[in-house]
Amino acid sequence: MHPVLKELCVEDPAPGAICGERRGGGGKLLESRNPATGALLGRVKQASRADYDETIGRSQATFERWRAEPAPRRGEIIRQIGDELRRFKEPLGKLVTLEMGKIATEGQGEVQEMIDIADFAVGLSRQLYGLSMHSERASHRMFEQWHPLGTVGIITAFNFPVAVWAWNAMIAAVCGDSMVWKPSSKTPLSAVAAQQIATRVLARHGHPDVMALLVGPSADVGEPMLDDRRVPLVSATGSCTMGRVVSERVARRFGRSLLELGGNNAIVVMDDADVDLALRAILFGAVGTAGQRCTSTRRVIVQEGISSKLADRLVRAYASVKIGDPMDPGTLMGPLVDRGAVGDYTRAIEQIRREGGELLCGGKVLAGPRYESGCFVEPTIVKAPPALPMMQEETFAPILYLVTVKELDEAIALQNGVPQGLSSAIFTPDLRSAERFLGSAGSDCGIANVNVGTSGAEIGGAFGGEKETGGGREAGSDSWKTYMRRQTCTINWGRELPLAQGVKFPDSITQG
Ligand code: UN1
Repeated sequence: MHPVLKELCVEDPAPGAICGERRGGGGKLLESRNPATGALLGRVKQASRADYDETIGRSQATFERWRAEPAPRRGEIIRQIGDELRRFKEPLGKLVTLEMGKIATEGQGEVQEMIDIADFAVGLSRQLYGLSMHSERASHRMFEQWHPLGTVGIITAFNFPVAVWAWNAMIAAVCGDSMVWKPSSKTPLSAVAAQQIATRVLARHGHPDVMALLVGPSADVGEPMLDDRRVPLVSATGSCTMGRVVSERVARRFGRSLLELGGNNAIVVMDDADVDLALRAILFGAVGTAGQRCTSTRRVIVQEGISSKLADRLVRAYASVKIGDPMDPGTLMGPLVDRGAVGDYTRAIEQIRREGGELLCGGKVLAGPRYESGCFVEPTIVKAPPALPMMQEETFAPILYLVTVKELDEAIALQNGVPQGLSSAIFTPDLRSAERFLGSAGSDCGIANVNVGTSGAEIGGAFGGEKETGGGREAGSDSWKTYMRRQTCTINWGRELPLAQGVKFPDSITQG
């Protein structure tokens, strides 16, 4: 077993079905490998369909007790989870890097994002506010209040193996919900470690089952959630294809889904932009996490005056990106998550060539002793005509399209002209251009930035996007409302029973 797993108290083989003290794992063993070296990191006993049913049952039972805790008390427990995450930040971030391949600083950043959302949730636990309204009827008071929903299903992707769970888990927990997490089968160990850190704290307070985990195949532990009326909310992060299935199936039973799906994010660079700033944002957005964030920069839409200068400087910058072991502090780009992702990259490059895209750099799978796992690829820049069909698709790899435009309206139309609507940015010091980009006829995305790249959002804002990105909002702002049910209450403290809208209904028949 890898020493980092020992540091994180992960058992060998890790149980893939954990609900408080209960350890399940009736399914097949799942191997987790380091994508940088191909080395085996550990094995996880996967959950079976029977584990699913047992876990949901326990989660239902725990919900009854958890919702009875006052919200600020729930917040106090989340505060302690935040403290434990601080204690384990270094090894947990390291495990994320080992298992998923993002570079060390990004692995640490991911755990920081968990700590941040825990802190946010603590404050929120005293701010689950409802509004009060003025009733149109005399001696009546009207207000709304928010109640917990029940068991929340959380489905997460490999690219943020622990942070996106934390966005959901910390908020759902202060809202009074219990939850069951199905993580990506590509990153099971990170999930086991994160869930255990949280559960140890919850157990200390007599609520060990609040955050349960089910590692297993979709068919056994993911799909059953979609049709299960015991799961009123399914929060799912992943591809648009997956999201469509979740959305349709959950809607069929009138459940609620919170979807955070694909992005196809663009940075618009105007002629007057600070090019140094734009370059840094593009590089981090396109090469960071090897292009495997939903917020990764996939398109640069550049005004013609600086187009060739920006292209030259980007190509030069790409040439000095150090690719290799993500644990090495000098590395800027690690491997893709697995060979399947490399296959997607290769097929995308072939398709781009067929469609008439011109590769300015990159395009190859790396070979040689440092790249033996077969998961390393070159970051790629493609000079693309505005109508290149591949530009409509999200390829989860470091492929960046460069498109030249004449003016801002054309840039905005291109930026919006894709099925997805997650993140967007403009680089310009000009107030008019910036405000146009942010205006109602500007970017159609859930996130729109000025002189800030598309990726690396803070947790304080609501995170998510429009169109095929699924419309969900997670993390900050008032995203918590999705995890609760709203109740509108009217209290009559008078001696009459006036009806709304002035309707008259005779009292005489009830008198006598
Ligand atoms: C994701 O890729 O699913 O804004 C989440 C960002 C990160 C979260 C990305 N804070 O890039």
